[in-house]
Amino acid sequence: MELSIIYDKLRFEEKELHQKAINKGISTHLIDAKPISFSTDINQNNSIKGDIFLQRCISHFRGLYITSCLEYLNHKVINKYNVNEICGNKLRTSLILAKSKIPSPKTYFTFSAESFKELTNKLGFPLVLKPLVGSWGRGVFPIRNEETVNIIMEMREENDSALSRIYYVQEMIKRPPRDIRCIVAGDQIITAIYRYSAVGEWRTNVARGGHTGLAPITHELEEVVIKAATAVGGGILGVDVMEDENQGLVIHEINSNVEFRGASQVSKVDIANSMIEYVLSIFKK
Ligand SMILES: Nc1ncnc2c1ncn2[C@@H]1O[C@H](COP(=O)(O)OP(=O)(O)O)[C@@H](O)[C@H]1O
Ligand SMILES: [Mg+2]
Repeated sequence: MELSIIYDKLRFEEKELHQKAINKGISTHLIDAKPISFSTDINQNNSIKGDIFLQRCISHFRGLYITSCLEYLNHKVINKYNVNEICGNKLRTSLILAKSKIPSPKTYFTFSAESFKELTNKLGFPLVLKPLVGSWGRGVFPIRNEETVNIIMEMREENDSALSRIYYVQEMIKRPPRDIRCIVAGDQIITAIYRYSAVGEWRTNVARGGHTGLAPITHELEEVVIKAATAVGGGILGVDVMEDENQGLVIHEINSNVEFRGASQVSKVDIANSMIEYVLSIFKK
């Protein structure tokens, strides 16, 4: 088996995956996404080596469309295009989770600044606003009053990105200053960690200075997390869970290109090695 890891920036994670695959005796290539190209002519794609591919691009759309090209060439990619498409878009994830009856925060969508304002008037505060596509907590804002609504509207109006007129608004979950990141491969949680928010920061992302601690994998956690991972199509995923004071565990996000540097500092499990074992099991299927 030849394994190819597609990346656009070599992080700790890609180096770890590469090393752990080599340690297992797997012929492994690190492929920079930036210089590669594809053709609709199947015979002109000989330069793309590999029997199975791990999609690790940081850029969501770059990764998504490379996966589409690889699947066109009948390659196995982890994660699949459909999984990547759902997880890379918070609106799509919320709809799938709700449809699958998986506990998740109540979420609302509007398609103009005016209807966003109307919605917040109707719902009251506090609320949470998120970009449809994004990670590391970027653009995830708590909205606590009308003044913030007006500032956001003004900012969004000046921004002409294709998605800036779409407003993703969520109930604010009453939770401790932490959430739970579960790293999943197939139907198993490899490891679960608490992410505690940094001082003066509401978001718990490690990219926002959050620190990590080991979390127990309870039966309750396992059940909801595996159900959520399965609902979006499975693979290697980061399933993020909040502990809601009222509803118990709720899933707020599923990452299709999961980082695990913070988790590996506290986890007793060799995360990259477990991921490679999962890749092997998919290859043999
Ligand atoms: N509805 C919510 N209620 C309370 N905290 C939230 C809510 N949604 C997000 N957060 C906090 O913000 C962080 C980032 O939100 P998330 O949806 O995971 O976006 P990102 O993809 O940028 O990580 C979460 O890890 C959590 O700490
Ligand atoms: Mg997140």
